[in-house]
Amino acid sequence: MRASPHDRLRALVGGVFQRGHTARLEPGVRALADRLVAELAAQVRGAGQADVMAGIAHLLPVEVIADLLGLPESVRPSLRGWSTAIVAMYEPDPEAVRRAGAERAAADFVAALRDLVAFRRSRPGDDLVSDLVAAGVVPDELVGTAALLLMAGHEATVNVIGNGVLALLRHPAQWRSFLVDGDVGAAVDELIRYDPPLQLFERTALHDTEVAGHPVPAGTCIAALLGAAARDPLVFARPDELDLERRPNPHLGFGAGVHYCLGAPLARLEVAAVLDALRTHLPGIRLATPPRRRPDFVMRGMRELVVTA
Ligand code: HEM
Repeated sequence: MRASPHDRLRALVGGVFQRGHTARLEPGVRALADRLVAELAAQVRGAGQADVMAGIAHLLPVEVIADLLGLPESVRPSLRGWSTAIVAMYEPDPEAVRRAGAERAAADFVAALRDLVAFRRSRPGDDLVSDLVAAGVVPDELVGTAALLLMAGHEATVNVIGNGVLALLRHPAQWRSFLVDGDVGAAVDELIRYDPPLQLFERTALHDTEVAGHPVPAGTCIAALLGAAARDPLVFARPDELDLERRPNPHLGFGAGVHYCLGAPLARLEVAAVLDALRTHLPGIRLATPPRRRPDFVMRGMRELVVTA
């Protein structure tokens, strides 16, 4: 059987990704997380409180993706706005005005990516786009892949940081024991399981099949509720409880199968870097005001998470 376009591209991107990009980015990710959390702590000391979303979550992942792709400084300030506008399309039935905003943002982003790809053809760097150019990915596919990486790699991480910090603040005893000798890797996975940022993914059956005894005819679209799977009592003991030491933790927060998250190691690194920096700079962190969630359904996250210490 011939490989589908997805299998072919995924193999290329996965191969290029594994060529050390997470290790290349690690010192920068850790330094950035440390600086942002130190600045947040300074704001808490000065003003009495600070917003984790504005001060960390909205800044770190977008900068990491920009470094991964090697985006020039000139387009970086636009990235967050483009990404937020485009992911509005993930929600069921977006209103016409959000749809138009998403289309405009996508067109601007694609134009910036086309310039980047053309530039990297003549001036390769150590970034992922240069590696994909070298691997022979054609410009249209490269632009699509880079756009996917921004969307996939950015919003989910923003919301893991917000949802994860909120979960920690709501479990002060666990936060205190994490401060002493908590395993950051186990904590990251449990925070993703406990309050996943991506609640729903759709799948279309390619042929007649059956899921848990229910017939699914070819062409049927089904929704996989990742948030519900994270609380499955057949898989997890005490599924509604946060347990930062939970092991094993076979959550589906990064998906499963042929679309399993290609950026999972990078995402884990980003969240771990934030938790480590919080341990160092803000061990006494607590909620300052009631947290506010975004109204969206597919992308579950915080609008505002104001903390004090
Ligand atoms: C904690 C943060 C993250 C979470 C929770 C997450 C979650 C997911 C999930 C659930 C999927 C599967 C989607 C599906 O089944 O259709 C996925 C796919 C993907 N993710 Fe992530 N992701 C995160 C961060 C990242 C990062 C940082 C990157 C890259 C820099 C990334 C790149 C991708 C890509 C490229 C895919 C599509 C793979 C494919 O279709 O073959 N993700 N992610």
